Amino acid sequence: MKDFIYSYPTKVYFGEKAAAKALPDELQKVGKTVMLAYGGGSVKKSGVYDEICGYLKEAGKEIVDFAGIMPNPTYKKVQEGAALAKEKKVDFILAVGGGSVIDCCKIVAAQALTDKDIWEMEFKDHVFPAEYLPMGAIVTASGTGAEMNNGAVITNEDTDQKAGVLGAYASFAVLDPAYTMSLPARQVVSGAFDTLSHSMETYLGSPREITLSDEIAEAVMRNVIRNIRVLMLDMNDWEARSELMWASAMAENGILKIGKVTDFQAHQIEHQLGAYTDCNHGQGLAVIHPVLYRHMYKDGVKQFARMAEKVWEIPAEDKTPEELAVAGIDALADFIREIGLPSSFTEMGITDKSVLKKVADTCNLTAGCCKKLSREEVLEILEECW
Ligand code: NZQ
Ligand code: ZN
Repeated sequence: MKDFIYSYPTKVYFGEKAAAKALPDELQKVGKTVMLAYGGGSVKKSGVYDEICGYLKEAGKEIVDFAGIMPNPTYKKVQEGAALAKEKKVDFILAVGGGSVIDCCKIVAAQALTDKDIWEMEFKDHVFPAEYLPMGAIVTASGTGAEMNNGAVITNEDTDQKAGVLGAYASFAVLDPAYTMSLPARQVVSGAFDTLSHSMETYLGSPREITLSDEIAEAVMRNVIRNIRVLMLDMNDWEARSELMWASAMAENGILKIGKVTDFQAHQIEHQLGAYTDCNHGQGLAVIHPVLYRHMYKDGVKQFARMAEKVWEIPAEDKTPEELAVAGIDALADFIREIGLPSSFTEMGITDKSVLKKVADTCNLTAGCCKKLSREEVLEILEECW
């Protein structure tokens, strides 16, 4: 096992009426001017916006509205938020939304306190921000687990990159399944698949021998698969929504990564696909995963075979490890079809095939899994995804 230090800065308030439990206390700890950040308006339709404004007013806060954070948030939007935070002298940022809103706010929190360009700092000078505006997160769409980490995935339209930028941790996160009930079914499922993807990409990293983190990951994966199937019968099943919401946080709060080098090759490819097509994150992952794994498993048969047995519950019987590994990948591909996620880029509505080469040429190549891919093989994978 790799050495590690573990501590967690985010206090989680989980369950029904979690905001009512969290905000009166948490808002007392922060300054007077609060930036209320949200997306394209779902929070207004659902009533969450009015409810949160109520808590802010009761706590005597001045509200600075920062609206319109788009899915796959852009660096321009980060700059808009940071300029607003500077102008209004914001003391605290409250992000209300899914991964996109929370991620955008993580970097606004950093950019608001420096005149240096955060993108240049991190990607050119490899220097990370030293201070952040404090922030909290209220989750309305689960799957990314963004509320429990300090990585933000931001699209830089000038450089055609969608990349992970290090930003602020939320000091607290509110996870009330009720806030996700208005989420369209497609987004519920693609979010839950994102959680499964995070768990797989962590599990298939190194060391290759099974660790405690891997055994916890197996439980998270089984849980996600089971609960997506429950939602296929009843999208409003409260218990399943709750389980998936916590599974989402568990997959990205560092616990599954303890002692591991993670892989995240599917994510690196999907993020660049997102940079060029603005596609839905969970859908892109659903297309890429099975194809990628058929290219990788021979170099990591033991791990893939174990995943087939422990996660997809395929009996080993008289199968060779290689046959078992393939059966697991088949089960993943079947599951993706069963839950209505796309199996090709064309099904996702991507029409410009020329982006594939650009994605292959620019995505990060990771080495956490059993195989480091060449750019030629990434292109092959992307073409097989078409
Ligand atoms: O903008 P609004 O109107 O709020 O609509 C959003 C958006 O259109 C809607 N929505 C959210 N909550 C809703 C709702 N609609 C109805 N009712 C609700 N309660 O859902 C749409 C998608 O929202 P978004 O935040 O984009 O989805 P998600 O949570 O999947 O986040 C995706 C982003 O997170 C990044 C992705 O790359 C992508 O940019 N990721 C962040 C990660 C992290 N920070 O740890 C890890 C992930 O791997 C991922 O890369
Ligand atoms: Zn993801």
